[in-house]
Amino acid sequence: DKGGHSHYMAKEIHEQPEVIAHTLAYYIDPAKPAVRERDVKLAKAFAEATSLTVSACGTAFYAGMIGKYWFEKLARLPVEIDVASELRYRDPVYPKGGMALFISQSGETADTLAALRDAKAHGQTTIAVVNVPESSIAREADIVLPTFAGPEIGVASTKAFTCQLAALAPLAIAAGKARGFVDEAAEKKLCAALLEAPRHIVEFLKQEPKLRQIAQGVAKARDVLYLGRGANYPLALEGALKLKEISYIHAEGYAAGEMKHGPIALIDENVPVIVIAPHDALYEKTVSNMQEVMARGGKVLLISDKTGLDAAGAQVWKAVEVPAADPFITPLLYAVPVQLLAYYAAVAKGTDVDQPRNLAKSVTVE
Ligand code: F6R
Repeated sequence: DKGGHSHYMAKEIHEQPEVIAHTLAYYIDPAKPAVRERDVKLAKAFAEATSLTVSACGTAFYAGMIGKYWFEKLARLPVEIDVASELRYRDPVYPKGGMALFISQSGETADTLAALRDAKAHGQTTIAVVNVPESSIAREADIVLPTFAGPEIGVASTKAFTCQLAALAPLAIAAGKARGFVDEAAEKKLCAALLEAPRHIVEFLKQEPKLRQIAQGVAKARDVLYLGRGANYPLALEGALKLKEISYIHAEGYAAGEMKHGPIALIDENVPVIVIAPHDALYEKTVSNMQEVMARGGKVLLISDKTGLDAAGAQVWKAVEVPAADPFITPLLYAVPVQLLAYYAAVAKGTDVDQPRNLAKSVTVE
């Protein structure tokens, strides 16, 4: 049942306010607001941890990359991150007393499962963020943190991704608290900001017709670049992956500051450059990279909030406005325009959105 939508992917994009709220409610007590002390074992492990290794595949990996920024910032925990298909063959140095976090919607991804087993064999305390509670990864991890996305039918991950973020963010706060870097006031502020995410997404979804129209322009391109900085850099990677997998447009995500180290040579009027730049501490830097693109004739689609769009001026090709929010939660919000652009680009191209060619929902082969 697609609930009145043309594709499961559209339905699942629209379910996000609700399923994110469910996931947040499991980890955050809204009355305080504060993280729930569900797992004494988890708090103790974080308090004593020497490091955190994060691993996953595809979109789940990008959720983990965003998590890395949060864990470093809030919990001052050294984070090592790699895709599971590399980590497991790399002979990584697992520190004594380390923790390892694996993220998977299906809980059955073969490489992620193998990486988890390897980390466990090397004495790491393993945590799994999974959407399917009875999955192999959930069974084998020491600590299981569920997401409440519900069944995800579309092959391209949307609501599972934002629910992974909605589990990782409270986890980073809890880790920060356990390690003495997040005090009560900070915890309250961060939790309150997170609880606002569903409302902001509802608000943003009203702009869907506009996104559809912009995506029709994007669909004409052969190549697209996505740029972001900080926790929005993984979102640039996710945006490029979404475009590739469902619209078959070649897209690459880049850290905004890396543009001038090579990819800027690709810029001309045929390559849309999608810039993810909320008006946060990194805005000025990202916008200066954006201006370098425009100076070379590149056409920019800027995704920002009102302040960010106003400050950027009128020269951008297209602008998408996301509600202003605490910088901590912007990856959750900016995920939605990124999904809608890919979705409507695919619809414009007439591809099989829910069943893209060559892809399977769950990758149980190595
Ligand atoms: C992309 C996508 C894949 C999955 C990846 C991991 O839209 O869905 O990249 O994220 O195959 O799958 P899980 O999360 O089931 O381990």
